Amino acid sequence: MHKPIPATLIAGDGIGPEIMDATLAALDALRAPFAWDAQVAGLAGVHSAGDPLPAATLESIRRTRLALKGPLETPSGGGYRSSNVRLREEFKLYANMRPAKSMIPGGRFENIDLLVFRENVEGLYMGYEHYIPIEDDPHAVAIATGVNTRRGAIHILDYAFRTAIAAGRKKMTVVHKANIMKALTGIFLETAYQLHAEKYADQIALDDVIVDACCMKLVINPWQFDALVTTNLFGDILSDLCAGLVGGLGMAPGANIGQDAAVFEAVHGSAPDIAGRGIANPSALMLAAGLMLDHVGMADEASRLRRAIADAINVDHVRTGDLGGNAGTEAFTKAVVARIANG
Ligand code: NAI
Repeated sequence: MHKPIPATLIAGDGIGPEIMDATLAALDALRAPFAWDAQVAGLAGVHSAGDPLPAATLESIRRTRLALKGPLETPSGGGYRSSNVRLREEFKLYANMRPAKSMIPGGRFENIDLLVFRENVEGLYMGYEHYIPIEDDPHAVAIATGVNTRRGAIHILDYAFRTAIAAGRKKMTVVHKANIMKALTGIFLETAYQLHAEKYADQIALDDVIVDACCMKLVINPWQFDALVTTNLFGDILSDLCAGLVGGLGMAPGANIGQDAAVFEAVHGSAPDIAGRGIANPSALMLAAGLMLDHVGMADEASRLRRAIADAINVDHVRTGDLGGNAGTEAFTKAVVARIANG
């Protein structure tokens, strides 16, 4: 019997509560020992506490240092600032890890198994942006400043090397644009080679590729890569590209790892177009719960969960609409829970 593990639970907006119920059913079937502290954020936070990231939610994560989070709605353009970005800043969640693994045979690419590591708090996403007005055009010039630090690069690179080695990976590829942005992305490339030479050269190979070439290579022959690590903006784009290689957003989980906490979530958003209809695919959030189980040292339960999801989809042929099937969230969840119970 495992000791209870305190963890914060944020169901999220839109399809969040539906896919979170499904994920909790799977975790219950696994007898995962999380002691949940349910909190709100996003639109639900605005409605119930007048804040998209209420103080009670932050306090809970500060205490548990561990959270499973549904998607949070962020208005485009005006409105409040993204609660996701605020969470990353608040808990210094410097590493975003997104595995891209084929689960469904017969897709455009078979047998993909990539680990993508994205720097999560620096680079061009720091929001140092402004316009310079000239004559009667208030937006005549737009300026953005990216900031990458040696410390920040070491944090994410060290995490990426350790995690990839623990997962049995043989090669890490640094993705950059140091031929053009010689300082901004050069510091990341240079730090990767230094850290690798100092600590990891005998455990994993290292090479590098320029981001534009990397996109082409990923589409032509993704199997040449094993693990990728890159700066914030490139990582945002590349990890979606890799999710696309393995069946899209419904199957893509993500882990945000930091100094002060770890937050696990699906890569997709709140899907307002299908919210409340009981048809969302809960696999991505379930797979995120699998990463959370790995994180707390419950690798067996994590593998059982992944196997149950794959079997429900491929052996039982229970699929939600986004995967070309006609099962609802509940029917799919029942199939996963049955597989866990019999697995
Ligand atoms: P989205 O990912 O919510 O939806 C894009 C498309 O994929 C929609 O057609 C949706 O129905 C479909 N889809 C997404 N997840 C699905 C699932 N589990 N099963 C079946 N179909 C699924 O992206 P969108 O529409 O751009 O964003 C909606 C809201 O979500 C926005 O407010 C955005 O800010 C927020 N968002 C939040 C994220 C987070 O909390 N991590 C990440 C991305 C977006």
